[in-house]
Amino acid sequence: MGNGASVVEKTARLSIAVIGAGYWGPNLARNFRTGPAWHLAAICDLDIDRARRVADSVGGVPVTDDLHDVLSDPLIDAVAIATPARTHHAIVMAALEAGKHVIVEKPLADSGVAGREMVERAGEMGLVLMADHTYCYTPAVLKIRELIADGFLGDILFVDSVRINLGLIQPDVDVFWDLAPHDLSIMDFVLPGGLRTTSVAAHGADPLRTGKACIGYLAMPLAGGAVAHVHANWLSPTKIRQMVIGGTKRTLVWDDLNPQQRLSVYDRGVDIEQVSKGSAADARAAHISYRLGDTWSPALPEGEALAGVAAEFAAAIREGRSARTGGEAGLRVLAVLEAANRSLERGGAPEPLEPLEPLAVELVSGGVVR
Ligand SMILES: NC(=O)c1ccc[n+]([C@@H]2O[C@H](COP(=O)([O-])OP(=O)(O)OC[C@H]3O[C@@H](n4cnc5c(N)ncnc54)[C@H](O)[C@@H]3O)[C@@H](O)[C@H]2O)c1
Repeated sequence: MGNGASVVEKTARLSIAVIGAGYWGPNLARNFRTGPAWHLAAICDLDIDRARRVADSVGGVPVTDDLHDVLSDPLIDAVAIATPARTHHAIVMAALEAGKHVIVEKPLADSGVAGREMVERAGEMGLVLMADHTYCYTPAVLKIRELIADGFLGDILFVDSVRINLGLIQPDVDVFWDLAPHDLSIMDFVLPGGLRTTSVAAHGADPLRTGKACIGYLAMPLAGGAVAHVHANWLSPTKIRQMVIGGTKRTLVWDDLNPQQRLSVYDRGVDIEQVSKGSAADARAAHISYRLGDTWSPALPEGEALAGVAAEFAAAIREGRSARTGGEAGLRVLAVLEAANRSLERGGAPEPLEPLEPLAVELVSGGVVR
């Protein structure tokens, strides 16, 4: 494991340990257990009983409550980290120092500085650092990306994302840092050129006095006068997972809780025609018209997103390349969240978002894997 890079035969399964066996870790364990590219070598949790329960649920895997056991094992190529956000930086840095490829849960880290250090270290070590932006591997989001890339929606006018339910109030992060990474990573993945916004205006509320925002709204201008909006909420008795993406040609509605019709495409919208030469009022009336066409629902293949996550992580390691949702994608999400923090401190005023400075090192040097 010279210079931190695992050396793995192309045909051999990669060996991975899951760190963190709470709410989300079992899903990672199940998918790395069944993923054809992977051998699930261990489960690690400070709470050894949790680790045991998860290990039993996937048919028996060695367990430990000591991260060092995993990191010092030369047979383990990679780790999947599903611990709370505040712990990501320390565990990821230790794993990279030990020469392990890393997939880490969203949010990548609890600050932009911490995230950047992780991404730079992975680059220096020639290791893959991937963010588990799970939704980017769902059939629905893959289809949305394809429809937008093919110009099917036309130019994007607005994106409106609602992610509300009775959520688990997190000990370390507010609702923006807990839920909005999903919406932001999806927007970053499906919008041409990524989520390029120049500012973020955030409004948060904590009506139950938990000490952090439990209800949050983000507004972000997009190119050409378009706008993106996120509503994240832990206090809603009804669960809504919906994104509406309006374009000049068509509008798409993604209702993730409607398996019969997750995606609907509306051939309806407002058309603006050439300005005519009458009075201002006549001109306005003349050049706005409404299109009332069909609605249809694209067929989506079945498939668990985390199986795609596991496959992409393995492919990135084997091919010595950055993962599709690599550390940089995680950093773009963190940049928006940090701007949201600053906006909250300033009573919701739009907070400028500087473009991320280029990283000092290449993300993954070729030839990591033979
Ligand atoms: N991708 C998704 O859709 C998704 C969904 C839910 C949660 N998450 C993310 O997963 C992460 C974990 O969330 P959760 O809800 O499962 O948290 P959780 O509190 O239920 O579980 C975290 C586990 O990590 C263990 N742990 C903490 N520090 C550790 C350490 N140093 N070494 C080993 N184990 C340690 C804890 O004992 C606990 O069992 C968070 O980053 C969260 O945002 C992602």
